[in-house]
Amino acid sequence: MTLEEKVGQLVQYSAGQPTGPGTGRTDYDSMIRKGEVGALFNITTAREVNVYQRIAVEQSRLRIPLLFGLDVIHGFRTEFPIPLGLASSWDPQLVERAARVAAREASASGIRWTFSPVVDIARDARWGRMAEGSGEDPYLGSAMASAYVRGYQGTRLDAADSIAACPKHFVGYGAAEGGRDYNSVELSEHTLRQFYLPPFHAAVDAGAATLMGAFNSLNAVPASANPFTLRQILRTEWGFQGVVDSDWTSVAELVAHGIANDGAAAARKAFLGGVDMDMASSLYHDHLAQLVRSGEVPEARVDEAVRRVLRVKFALGLFEHPYSDEVKEAAAMLRPESLTLARTAAEQSFVLLKNSASPGGAPILPLSTETRTIALIGPLADDQNNMLGSWAARGRAEDVVTLRAALTQKLGVDGLRYAKGTEIIGGSDDQIADAVRTAEQADVVILALGEDAPAMTGEAASRAHLGLPGRQQQLLEKIVATGKPVVLLLFSGRPLTMPWAFEHVPAVVAAWFPGVQAGPALLRALFGEVNPSGKLVVSWPRAVGQEPLYYNALNTGRPAGNIDLTRPPKNGDEKFVSRYIDVPNSPQFPFGYGLSYSNYQYGQPRLSKEQLSAGALNDELCAGGRASNAAVEVSADVTNTGTRAGEETVQLYVRLQGTSVALPVRALSGFQRVTLTPGETKKVTFTVGPDAFAFWNDQNKFAVEPARVTIWVSPDSSSGSEATLQIVK
Ligand code: NOJ
Repeated sequence: MTLEEKVGQLVQYSAGQPTGPGTGRTDYDSMIRKGEVGALFNITTAREVNVYQRIAVEQSRLRIPLLFGLDVIHGFRTEFPIPLGLASSWDPQLVERAARVAAREASASGIRWTFSPVVDIARDARWGRMAEGSGEDPYLGSAMASAYVRGYQGTRLDAADSIAACPKHFVGYGAAEGGRDYNSVELSEHTLRQFYLPPFHAAVDAGAATLMGAFNSLNAVPASANPFTLRQILRTEWGFQGVVDSDWTSVAELVAHGIANDGAAAARKAFLGGVDMDMASSLYHDHLAQLVRSGEVPEARVDEAVRRVLRVKFALGLFEHPYSDEVKEAAAMLRPESLTLARTAAEQSFVLLKNSASPGGAPILPLSTETRTIALIGPLADDQNNMLGSWAARGRAEDVVTLRAALTQKLGVDGLRYAKGTEIIGGSDDQIADAVRTAEQADVVILALGEDAPAMTGEAASRAHLGLPGRQQQLLEKIVATGKPVVLLLFSGRPLTMPWAFEHVPAVVAAWFPGVQAGPALLRALFGEVNPSGKLVVSWPRAVGQEPLYYNALNTGRPAGNIDLTRPPKNGDEKFVSRYIDVPNSPQFPFGYGLSYSNYQYGQPRLSKEQLSAGALNDELCAGGRASNAAVEVSADVTNTGTRAGEETVQLYVRLQGTSVALPVRALSGFQRVTLTPGETKKVTFTVGPDAFAFWNDQNKFAVEPARVTIWVSPDSSSGSEATLQIVK
């Protein structure tokens, strides 16, 4: 390969609908012919893929196939719930199956590379990209990260229906200051290693073929030119062999960051910092060969990066099968089994936040089949486009069954009254008045409110106000004032601060953005054909001022303990603690929380040992062991005391005290979904080993230390009874 041809393999352009600011290059055909391009993205059909691939394979000197990528984030044509919703299922197998469907559809269109999963830890609901990931917890996030990778890449990357995964954004992107997208990030090495890196490590261990660097600076070093994270941690410590892609123009952005004064310096710093491939900025294309010639970049380093790119292309079987079968493409989309899975995924993603009794009666949900007239009100009740979420790949609004369509089918036009009520943003008094009249004619009101998915969630969609947008709060209050029983369905890419609603509305469901099967799934949940089982993967704030808000926080030296935080402090004991004077510290709903139509009772956790040895646990840790002699078995009885069968996600939390560094008040270290029939009790057992007890300590090492350990087996991160044990030397 000539130097230019080598550099070509490290160059990537967007030749379709842009997903970032323009870069001015459009002469793809001639660049590909000259071997100046290694990968293209944002092209979505087999026909277009083949057109470009033919140029690469039949007209370029070396005939190296192009790699085609796309943001396939939660489905390709069959859109699943947004990742925040998928994670709320606490069901990695489900996520793996959804990713498999996405891979089948994407690969049928010639896309063999997805820029997914988003494995950024998200502790701040202001950050719009919380919608794209699996929430705030590293343990759950790691389980989801590997599930996505397994689903996309399948058992063999060279199977025609497998696609290469690209966990992103490495690293710390979710910790943007103030929740403002692309903003700077400061994280101590402890916090980075303990909370932000584990999902990436899990994705790498699951075999992710590529990885994407982030936009943000991390402790003043832009993540796209950070040898500590990209080379030391990723390559040396974790042994990652795959390709590191930049994010969209993040190489060029090194100039704006202030660590390069021109394009050549940006290219040099990004490349030597550990970025193999330049997405969209054109700077490797423009400068890398010259940087090699001038001796600023060793050619051996270019060779390494090129090898990594070629290895992925070989692994995908692109050299043998560069083209995509245009005839078979359509048949791969929206298959009945894919739609069934999309419905199941949506059903499992819903989190029942509140379900209180209507005055003098049973809980409002599930709705009785006797309900004669339902008023369906709200801007998201019949909005196909929004159900697709913020990254819809090739999802089409026309594929979506809305709640209105599903309810109309079930109840007939006579049983359903519909009023839009307001726009997501905007709307008029007349619309609201019409909705009130509609509500008054019905037995029950279902309100479908929330955010605009493409405009208000996802990339570049940070919000400083987290209430209902536009006039929706006004609509909500007017409808509640009718005195009709109200069920509120919240469609959003983040938790919304709406304390009034949680006080006054009897039933509230977090529906996220559920995907193509939104309507049928919601219908089944509302009428009790499925029992809601989703649990929150982010702490739900009461007020924006609480953000960043996360359950696995440190205790501080002045924890508020049992002080009543719902009123201002009355004396010094109440004042000089870590608190707000105007809002409780606690979330509206904690991480892990979610109701169902059953009730579950948790017994006291029992431990198989009262003592563990730090030495033995560390030996196991070094040997890479998980379930081991050094581990403890923790079990608890869980009983369904309700009248319906249900699935409960039983969670295990651990706290360590007396250690060299302060550790969270609770850390998730296990979870299991159990199915329980009415009255049934199951003993749920967890094997808790070195992984749960090791942490990044004051010696800058992952190790287990002597500690007092508290363990909970509980339905969420803030309740449950505890058991204790000691880790001794
Ligand atoms: C920028 C986003 O940060 C990234 O997640 C995405 O993959 C690229 N644009 C490509 O669309």
